[in-house]
Amino acid sequence: MTANYEIKDQKMLVTKVRTVFNFLNHSMSMQYLIDPRIQSLIPIALYSILILGAARLVLDSLKINQSYVLRLYGMPHGGRSRLPVVVLPEDRIEDDCNVFEGNWVWDNVSYPLYEEENCPYLVKQTTCHKNGRPDSFYKNWRWQPNGCNLPRFKALKLLHMLRDKRMMFIGDSLQRGQFESMICLIQSVIPEGKKSLQRVPPMKIFKIEEFNASIEYYWAPFIVESISDHATHHTVHKRMVRLDSINNHGKHWKGVDILVFESYVWWMHKPLINATYGSPHHVKEYNVTTAYKLALETWANWLESNIKPLTQKVFFMSMSPTHLWSWEWKPGSNENCFNESYPIQGPYWGTGSNLEIMKIIHDGLQVLKIDVTLLNITQLSEYRKDAHTSVYGERKGKLLTKEQRANPKDFADCIHWCLPGVPDAWNEILYAYLLKGYQNFS
Ligand SMILES: *[C@@H]1O[C@H](CO)[C@@H](O)[C@H](O)[C@H]1NC(C)=O
Ligand SMILES: *[C@@H]1O[C@H](CO)[C@@H](O)[C@H](O)[C@H]1NC(C)=O
Ligand SMILES: *[C@@H]1O[C@H](CO)[C@@H](O)[C@H](O)[C@H]1NC(C)=O
Ligand SMILES: *[C@@H]1O[C@H](CO)[C@@H](O)[C@H](O)[C@H]1NC(C)=O
Ligand SMILES: *[C@@H]1O[C@H](CO)[C@@H](O)[C@H](O)[C@H]1NC(C)=O
Ligand SMILES: *[C@@H]1O[C@H](CO)[C@@H](O)[C@H](O)[C@H]1NC(C)=O
Repeated sequence: MTANYEIKDQKMLVTKVRTVFNFLNHSMSMQYLIDPRIQSLIPIALYSILILGAARLVLDSLKINQSYVLRLYGMPHGGRSRLPVVVLPEDRIEDDCNVFEGNWVWDNVSYPLYEEENCPYLVKQTTCHKNGRPDSFYKNWRWQPNGCNLPRFKALKLLHMLRDKRMMFIGDSLQRGQFESMICLIQSVIPEGKKSLQRVPPMKIFKIEEFNASIEYYWAPFIVESISDHATHHTVHKRMVRLDSINNHGKHWKGVDILVFESYVWWMHKPLINATYGSPHHVKEYNVTTAYKLALETWANWLESNIKPLTQKVFFMSMSPTHLWSWEWKPGSNENCFNESYPIQGPYWGTGSNLEIMKIIHDGLQVLKIDVTLLNITQLSEYRKDAHTSVYGERKGKLLTKEQRANPKDFADCIHWCLPGVPDAWNEILYAYLLKGYQNFS
């Protein structure tokens, strides 16, 4: 990828940086040009401020047909009957099947798995349709692995697996998208009044009363501690990461049954990052790859001293790709993900998904003494240039104005995803892995 990147016309790159990000200060653009080895994800600046700030809880107003729900819940014991989870043969992905290799197939019969307007927990940032996105094809693609089928997502089956358990998504706003997707995937089978979403910054907690279960989200954009850990007051412009500190976060993760980690875009803002390691007062600029590696080590140490492998399960999401430069999939063009309506027909890998970081993740997980399941969703998401929020999302907690929408070059968000959409596929895969491991941890 590095080589691929270097053959890019430097002049075009300069123009691109100046026009698309002309609101950013010059020195930052220059820094990006000086060290192009790391693809800068500068526009995150546009969205980072609103990451949790804009998240508002919408009151649950969903009306569900009561008898349908009662039937699903297997009354009369209010869902408390402890039915074992039945894992059918078609629920199991075979060990030798790489579910991350495959393609997106058109399926407007079974997809989307939920409708945007039926999920009251979505924040405005992801409700593309409601925000005015004219096309809706992006909702109708199903991820089809080459070697096997993913099990059909069954909300109730997942709830039975989550009984008396906590599942927590930890990371940045992309991870929040996955958390919201998961809630939307399951919430319709839970009756009114038996589910709730609470905000306990830096967390969000979705409780499913009858199952004594919760699905939670924890804001930690670098996983380790940083000055960006406040749930609402943070900006990617000012980053200072404490590479060897994690316990202030970790104490909230202890005992959680299923942990799903993710951290990437916040690192990639610039090729260098201010950080401390050792002395908390000695701030130094680190090469991002070096810093990422150190942070991952700190995380690994935390896992090794805090996770009980028999009762807890840990997942790590690989990086969520961005589609900032249309020339990468449409040579000669000079746009971004705006107005893209179809997935890329492979093979494709954008420069936004840094392979050095990928290798660090690979090597880091390899030496871990705890089993961490890597959900390598980067490639499958790379194809989905059509699925970002583009100009149908928010900026600083507000929907884009008409004028901003008319200027997608400056305002399209090609980092976050519409819901329903790509994060649902990530969760279908997570679901498949939970089913697969179900016997081993209950
Ligand atoms: C589903 O897609 C097919 C093929 O594109 C199309 O003919 C059909 O009208 C679509 N159905 C719905 C309900 O949108
Ligand atoms: C609810 O789940 C927690 C674990 O998340 C467990 O400690 C507790 O005993 C459960 N409560 C009941 C009533 O089963
Ligand atoms: C690190 O912090 C110093 C002092 O605040 C600042 O001048 C420098 O630009 C920062 N470096 C990076 C890579 O952000
Ligand atoms: C950062 O570290 C990586 C991996 O060690 C290396 O390839 C790269 O050249 C370094 N970048 C800088 C600016 O030192
Ligand atoms: C979006 O793309 C279509 C063709 O795919 C084109 O006709 C239309 O003008 C484009 N819209 C904008 C606003 O660029
Ligand atoms: C994830 O998948 C990509 C290709 O799909 C591969 O290049 C990469 O090495 C994988 N990452 C890890 C950590 O295994």
